[in-house]
Amino acid sequence: MTVHDLAAEAGRRRTFAIISHPDAGKTTLTENLLLAGGAIRLAGEVRARGETRRTRSDWMKIERERGISVSASVMTFERDGVVFNLLDTPGHEDFSEDTYRTLTAADSAIMVLDAAKGIEPQTLKLFEVCRLRDIPIITFINKLDREAQDPFALLDEVHEKLALDVAPVFWPAGSGARFRGMLDLRDDKFHVFRRPEAGEKTTHETELVPMASNHIAEVMSDGELEELRETSDLARAGLPAFDLDAYREGSMTPVFFGSALRKFGVTELLDGIAGYAPPPRTQKAVTKGEATMVEPSKNEVTGFVFKIQANMDPKHRDRVAMVRVVSGRFRRGMTLKTTNGKALNVHAPLMFMAQDREILDEAFPGDVIGVPNHGALRVGDSLSESGQVSYVGIPNFAPEILKRARVADPLKQKHLKKALEGMAEEGVTQLFRPVIGSDLIVGAVGALQFDVLEERLRAENGLDVMFEQSPYQAARWISAESHADLEAFMDKNKSQSAEDLDGAPVFLGKTAWEIGYVQEKNPKVRFTATKERAG
Ligand code: G4P
Repeated sequence: MTVHDLAAEAGRRRTFAIISHPDAGKTTLTENLLLAGGAIRLAGEVRARGETRRTRSDWMKIERERGISVSASVMTFERDGVVFNLLDTPGHEDFSEDTYRTLTAADSAIMVLDAAKGIEPQTLKLFEVCRLRDIPIITFINKLDREAQDPFALLDEVHEKLALDVAPVFWPAGSGARFRGMLDLRDDKFHVFRRPEAGEKTTHETELVPMASNHIAEVMSDGELEELRETSDLARAGLPAFDLDAYREGSMTPVFFGSALRKFGVTELLDGIAGYAPPPRTQKAVTKGEATMVEPSKNEVTGFVFKIQANMDPKHRDRVAMVRVVSGRFRRGMTLKTTNGKALNVHAPLMFMAQDREILDEAFPGDVIGVPNHGALRVGDSLSESGQVSYVGIPNFAPEILKRARVADPLKQKHLKKALEGMAEEGVTQLFRPVIGSDLIVGAVGALQFDVLEERLRAENGLDVMFEQSPYQAARWISAESHADLEAFMDKNKSQSAEDLDGAPVFLGKTAWEIGYVQEKNPKVRFTATKERAG
């Protein structure tokens, strides 16, 4: 394959994730994007298939008990020559750490807002991660078929809270019972919203009426038309026009409107992703000790593990490492190496179509391949043909909950330590070992991670673990210009010093306030809430 073909294959891929606050409509939108993209045929399949898969493979009990999906997957579909890789992120807010990591594998994100609610806490949190990584964002304002906030107020809120320029691509006419559709500000065509009659099947097809045509008077009343003209003129005059460069560098968000449930505005969004969202990015790496930028068109196959999906088949304890391909044309049967010298022959790479998986023969930059393994790979590992390319940037996030793990039988303490290390390598939870004593402190971003950990330790390791309150409420990774400064600090704060899984120094705070205080008193020490490990 020539460099040109490789660049063309990479160039037609759009790898993106959807971020939202629970209930804003992410699942409904995902389903309808897949439908509009022809990936699935029947509405309800995202959930329905999820159900069968869970029953069929006896997916983790916790998922069934709680009816939530705790693991992210990838959905690939092709439309008009564009390959979309939709990285599904867990909906439950407790699983934000998983969501964060999935975002490291995405080139862009769709932010779904409920038109009645605007920016909600979880949206803000996820947005911060996107900003940290310069991930460009398209905003989709959902549920226009319900009574919504004024669009100017919504866009103002996005502008204020996220410090982003907002460029509406469409402009809505009314909302709720008075929702008539939306005007494409680029070509002045009106996309008509039709409320389906009872029992009528809706499609993603929308009638387009030019604003200059007489027919527009049949779509809405004179008053509504006048209001649309006025507000859309105001939007054009008062808000910035869409600028592709500003969007791609992360300072502007184009805004789309619609109703995922009513299948309205979904194809427009898909076209927006195809047209505006960036193709696979060039990625920072370290090669033989030197900082380099890896282009997708580089011949060598490289990638990184952003997620481990465990227990797809509990009988075989298989682990599937989700690898985001960064460069090169991957072929089935290739041998890829980690930077610490492990070589893996990838003879059965998996590809994900909605909830099905199948063996794939080749993959290109932007694609995600599932590499089955027995624990050789961990989150953050880099893979390449040479074993020399190391990607930086799969972050660990400072845990918000810290608990002490204990087993009733003291003879099993060693066993517990090993099991917790394994889980931390997989990224289920984090593990901290205080410098003094033999406590095992488990950290998580969300409480549900503890339930998953407990369930897995029981099922896979036969351990009945207890989580007790720990004296700590927050953790920060610490570093300093001079080693002596760091050592002096740790010496002075021995009882609150610890190491993470990789042996990196950590300060355990009794309260978040204490961390701020200690930080102020020790200006030579850096306290960080995220840690990026080179893989
Ligand atoms: P999430 O994944 O972001 O948590 O949201 P999800 O899609 O599950 O949607 C949350 C609720 O909002 C669902 O209703 C869904 O039907 C509804 N919804 C999503 N998009 C729209 C929309 O465009 N318009 C309207 N009116 N509702 C929308 P539910 O009653 O909680 O669940 P369900 O019984 O309908 O599944």
